[in-house]
Amino acid sequence: MAAPTLPPQVIPPRFVLSPLAPEALEAEVVALPVEPAEGDAALVLGPGAVALDERFDLIGVLESERATGKAGEIVAVPVPAGRGPLRRILLVGVGAQRRDDFRRAGAALARATRDIGSVATSIPALEPSYALEAFVAGAVLGSFDFNWRSTGPAWQAVGTVTLADIAPEEYGDALARAEAIAHAGWRARFLATVPANLKSPAWLAEQAVAAAAEAGLEAKVWDEHQLAAEGFGGIIGVGQGSATPPRLIRLDYTPAKAGRRTPTVVLVGKGITFDTGGLSIKPGQAMTTMKRDMTGGAVVIATMAALAQVGCPVRVVGLIPAAENAVSGSALRPGDVVRHYGGRTSEVTNTDAEGRLVLADGLAYAVERIKPDVLVDVATLTGAMKVALGQHLGGYFANRDALATQVDRASQVSGEEVWRMPLFAGYEDKLASTVADADNGPGGPGAITAALFLQHFVGDLPWLHLDVASIGDAPEERFEWTKGPTGFGARLLLTWLGSDDPLQGIRVE
Ligand code: BES
Ligand code: MN
Ligand code: ZN
Repeated sequence: MAAPTLPPQVIPPRFVLSPLAPEALEAEVVALPVEPAEGDAALVLGPGAVALDERFDLIGVLESERATGKAGEIVAVPVPAGRGPLRRILLVGVGAQRRDDFRRAGAALARATRDIGSVATSIPALEPSYALEAFVAGAVLGSFDFNWRSTGPAWQAVGTVTLADIAPEEYGDALARAEAIAHAGWRARFLATVPANLKSPAWLAEQAVAAAAEAGLEAKVWDEHQLAAEGFGGIIGVGQGSATPPRLIRLDYTPAKAGRRTPTVVLVGKGITFDTGGLSIKPGQAMTTMKRDMTGGAVVIATMAALAQVGCPVRVVGLIPAAENAVSGSALRPGDVVRHYGGRTSEVTNTDAEGRLVLADGLAYAVERIKPDVLVDVATLTGAMKVALGQHLGGYFANRDALATQVDRASQVSGEEVWRMPLFAGYEDKLASTVADADNGPGGPGAITAALFLQHFVGDLPWLHLDVASIGDAPEERFEWTKGPTGFGARLLLTWLGSDDPLQGIRVE
């Protein structure tokens, strides 16, 4: 049967910088920042509000609505039709003006301006040096939707957002960077949301190759025959039960100024396009969100495609082992043994612990063939991580403190929040198998034993394993998160890899 085709999708808003005040910009909506009252002092309206306050007594409206100025709070003031295009003024709380507050304000504004052509706002003008990036991320990702309705998208995102009171010459580059990071988050979320009747491993590879062509990356895709010939037994094993065969995708980024000494980072992303659990089948409810079990792969594709735009100074190679974990007569059986790239073997006591089987091949290939300075993997790996951290936080493991420090910093800046977990060697004996080098389903504590399983494939390289099973799905709308797959991790990785010295303190250890 031919692959289904997607109908037109919602597109993210367009951003423009202007040195003018918001009311001078002829927009349908003007959005002004509201700073909370402090002590006896009243609420304060941010830049560009004086003229509009005089006309509409905005402070009076805020008081009668009992506004607090909390980040993301919105008070709408309708403007009677008449002179000019202005229809509505939105008064948007910016709280304490931290990055989180600007991100929340951006997301709230995006939700309040759906189906509107143009909005002008002075919100990021309060602190453009850091508010721009956060505000744009919120406004873009708060606009996300995925549509496969016969009637078209339920709504369109706001068309143009003009960021008023900001000098384009001074902040043009910062806006481009902000948009690159936000669009990477969008791309990861989009890929994770595409249903698996379209999203086969081959489809994911096509998306990666197209993104690579746009971004000037080199791309290579292994099909199932090449994978088998080169010994990728984990990817082949997991993919062998599916009507849509597995792929391995490799994307290479080389910075413009690369030299012989430019270090290399490898990113490996779990690309399970659907996880039924295999013969160790998941119960119905647990399977419903498993189209997004390739979130790690989506994050790697989206990150790779934006590295040039954030000026990443190191070489980066992205690897996405992609397979569907299906149920059929040719599927892996409990008790089967797979031989990974490089020769290490795993006893598959649980076919639902498939992510580590495909990641192991990717990690082993990276160590043997790419010899990077740092290795990072991203995966929706364990339900145990969700139990440990809930759905607002990702978990990571790192074998170098300096790498953990880098990722913690990127987490705080990007707003994709993560917590470090222990690579506790005391659980190592749980991995023991009676027939192979390790057991893929060693039981609890599940997030930790999964990390310990992977650690055997990274040699002595600095390595970080990010398990996003906890935060891969948003149970409800919250700030920049829309209900459903989150695509969590691309903003975090781009913030890290787009910093001045992403490997600071790591290589010397
Ligand atoms: N894809 C799942 C992990 C997952 C669970 C992601 C819930 C998102 C939400 C993974 O392949 C899996 O099934 N892991 C098992 C491992 C176990 C069998 C050792 C798990 O967590 O139950
Ligand atoms: Mn599974
Ligand atoms: Zn899985």
